[in-house]
Amino acid sequence: MERKGKFIVFEGTDGSGKSTQMKLLGKYLKAEGIACYLTHEPTDSPFGALLKSCLTGRVDADEHAIAALFAADRLDHITNPVNGIRMWLEKGVSVLCDRYYLSSFAYNGGFVPTEWVIELNRPAMQLLRPDLTVFLDLPPEDGMARVARRGETERYETLEKQRGIREKYFEMFRRFGKDETVAIVRSEAEKECTQANVRAAVMPLFGGKYGR
Ligand code: TMP
Ligand code: MG
Repeated sequence: MERKGKFIVFEGTDGSGKSTQMKLLGKYLKAEGIACYLTHEPTDSPFGALLKSCLTGRVDADEHAIAALFAADRLDHITNPVNGIRMWLEKGVSVLCDRYYLSSFAYNGGFVPTEWVIELNRPAMQLLRPDLTVFLDLPPEDGMARVARRGETERYETLEKQRGIREKYFEMFRRFGKDETVAIVRSEAEKECTQANVRAAVMPLFGGKYGR
């Protein structure tokens, strides 16, 4: 497969500012004349809609079923011929994605065997690795305070779980350090300051004049 666009993933615990930072980056890239498409997991497809119901508790499901569903949602997200990530990349459009397989390892891999979750995601890892993963690091206490202000809390949104999830992310960064390019960006400062650090990590992907 010829990949012309860049694939940039945002990761972090809940409330870490991923969607805000991703939108700010998208606006900036577009203003710089770089075509990009913004997307997220769980997706808006029927797979993602079912996952959303599991996260809010409207549907009660086993952790194994949820982990498998996330992997299925992801494979459809990559390969869908109408609006899949690969389709955009092949067209020369860069893709910014809020969460990808590291979310599965860090979240689902803490509740069912991590090795099984990694195997479930092996096809996605073989099909499409990010050019860069930006991990927004915020103390789980601060993230939970932001989540509480939103109102509804979801399946993994307790302080204890979030602490475990953050630890699991770092365990996975150590484990996959050779294969994955991860930029860790602290996210407790003003959003403009965080955005400057996000851009500094991302822009070298677009070459020449953007190099640090
Ligand atoms: P969001 O809060 O970023 O919208 O993501 C929804 C929730 O789904 C969040 O708590 C993380 C969780 N999640 C997983 O457990 N596994 C996954 O593979 C993904 C993509 C998300
Ligand atoms: Mg959330």
